[in-house]
Amino acid sequence: MSKKEYKRHLVTSALPYANGPIHIGHLAGVYIPADIYVRYLRLAGKDVCFIGGSDEHGVPITIKARQQGVTPQEIVDTYHKLIEESFEKLGISFDIYSRTTSEIHHKTASDFFKKLYAEGKFIEKETEQFYDPGTGTFLADRYIVGTCPRCDHDHAYGDQCEKCGSTLSAEELINPRSSLSGEVPEKKKTTHWYLPLDQYEPWLKTWILETHKEWKPNVYGQCKSWLDNGLQPRAVSRDLDWGVPVPVEGADGKVLYVWFDAPIGYISNTIELFPDTWETWWKDEDTRLVHFIGKDNIVFHCIVFPSMLKAHGGYIVPDNVPANEFLNLEGDKISTSKNWAVWLHEYLEEFPGKEDVLRYTLCATMPETKDNDFTWKDFQARNNNELVAVLGNFVNRAVVLTHKYYDGKVPTCNTLTAYDKEIISHIPKTLQSLESHLEHFHFREALKDAMNLARLGNKYLADTEPWKAIKTDPERVKTILCISLQLCAALTIALDPFLPFTTKKLRNILNMPTPLPWADLSKEQLLATEHQLNEPTLLFEKIEDATVQAQVDKLRNCCETAASASTSALIPAFEECTFDDFTKMDIRVATIQTAERVPKTDKLLKLTIDTGLDTRVIVSGIAEHYSPEELPGRQICILANLKPRKIRGIESKGMILMAQDGDGNMSLVSPAKEMKNGSVVN
Ligand code: 2FM
Ligand code: ZN
Repeated sequence: MSKKEYKRHLVTSALPYANGPIHIGHLAGVYIPADIYVRYLRLAGKDVCFIGGSDEHGVPITIKARQQGVTPQEIVDTYHKLIEESFEKLGISFDIYSRTTSEIHHKTASDFFKKLYAEGKFIEKETEQFYDPGTGTFLADRYIVGTCPRCDHDHAYGDQCEKCGSTLSAEELINPRSSLSGEVPEKKKTTHWYLPLDQYEPWLKTWILETHKEWKPNVYGQCKSWLDNGLQPRAVSRDLDWGVPVPVEGADGKVLYVWFDAPIGYISNTIELFPDTWETWWKDEDTRLVHFIGKDNIVFHCIVFPSMLKAHGGYIVPDNVPANEFLNLEGDKISTSKNWAVWLHEYLEEFPGKEDVLRYTLCATMPETKDNDFTWKDFQARNNNELVAVLGNFVNRAVVLTHKYYDGKVPTCNTLTAYDKEIISHIPKTLQSLESHLEHFHFREALKDAMNLARLGNKYLADTEPWKAIKTDPERVKTILCISLQLCAALTIALDPFLPFTTKKLRNILNMPTPLPWADLSKEQLLATEHQLNEPTLLFEKIEDATVQAQVDKLRNCCETAASASTSALIPAFEECTFDDFTKMDIRVATIQTAERVPKTDKLLKLTIDTGLDTRVIVSGIAEHYSPEELPGRQICILANLKPRKIRGIESKGMILMAQDGDGNMSLVSPAKEMKNGSVVN
């Protein structure tokens, strides 16, 4: 931990890609620890700014858009909204959650690049890159598919084989082809700008390896290994039509590499939040910058972004980068493509009012030093055995007994026994230990400290048995309940960074309208004598076996559906065709006018079609899937220039396009929105 006393704390959490929802792996790795940390700092009275936002550029977003037949902007609009809303519902307390497609970000990133460019901080290099002659575009590695040289999988990507998990380069693929056109990619010359990381290596070595030995071992170790291997210049631009355009003349069709613009997003979002004072957050040595990220982002936050900041000049660099490892799910790696994940937006819908149960479980199983595993059984056990049985039970007993014996008024603490004093002394001790764990990013231990106050309270009640003592020594009971209630009040502070929804409820029960500051944990009496409590309500409820079993079943079913949708019931891939083969096909949008059965057949329908160019008859084998009544008026797609042929004596001109899986399911193919008849499909 750095010893310096900082004036303010700038905390960032990795900007998630806006091409899918947030899952528990993201939460446990990045957002829960970051939120606990900033909530703690705020309670401790520090000046804090917590930056979040969506990362809306990069190739995967363009691929998803293409797959769904929408624009990249539509993809990021959808997911940015979903992500922002679900974070808010989970209580992730960003000061701003913005996005990298914002105007201000484009300007900030563009200006950043321009300064480095003008000062000659980049190397300009011409290299050969894969190019798709069919579409006339350069191809990112992801857009090249071919056979994996390691496992023979015939649909490996140019950067990775998803079957055997190997990291690949497009050069290694056997029989490579463009996934845009099917054409064999060619090599073509292109110019890009590179940040010469090797020039920053001596500075990075001193800065990280010598002055930041306190960084988490997983982070320090990864940095050391990068630095020991020697750094190479890194391209900061790409040939792509989605991103921040490279602000250099003649750089049409080139954008900033997503990993160049995304971290600048932290700066842009600060500018958006504090247009006048953002510079104190980024340029004043009295600001402490901390980046919360997952382990796959370490090199970008510890090596690339600091080098960018150094090259630019005037910026502070991170004081710490407490990256976490990965969270697995039920023993397997979380996989978004296999749908092996617990999605935050679904959890929030299916477990209303249980935001803190998820926060608690994810903090307790946080992959701080090594990968960890989330299981629904553990989720249930943590809720039932810890939140219900320890925390909820203690608070409930203390408050119910106070209502029963003293009309809900905090009783006077009489003479304290040595045992009472020992119990009370745990409150400030907890403060110290909690602080130390939080400052060192040991969130699991910190949570244990806070929960130990409730454990202690339960033990105290079990040892002193006020329900028995009330008959023999009523004065003693006053002290016992007074001390128990002080512990409850301390819990509203100690648990606040972890369980903000619960501490709010608890404050309600204790009738504490304003949250107490962190420093109050050092006080022994937080609730005054005679302070009136409210009626108790339950903080947590038991989660039944059937509830978690339903989640496990859902997970396995969804995963199987995703797997079978992607593999088993599919018609095998066709032979390769050329782009020219494809362009020979005149596919058009058309509308069915009439439909009737072809006599003496089960499968055939005779359809009259308005193609926009003419009205024609097509005979189609879809009678087992569609009745003639449901078809008139439907827009479909047809292959319009198929050579006419006679079917059952009827001249059929063209073919209706159908989607078909390996199980014989069929569906008409229609445009996603109404189009003019005759519109070309290509
Ligand atoms: O790994 C990711 O999800 C990236 N979108 C993180 C970016 S962090 C920052 F640089 F914006
Ligand atoms: Zn492979």
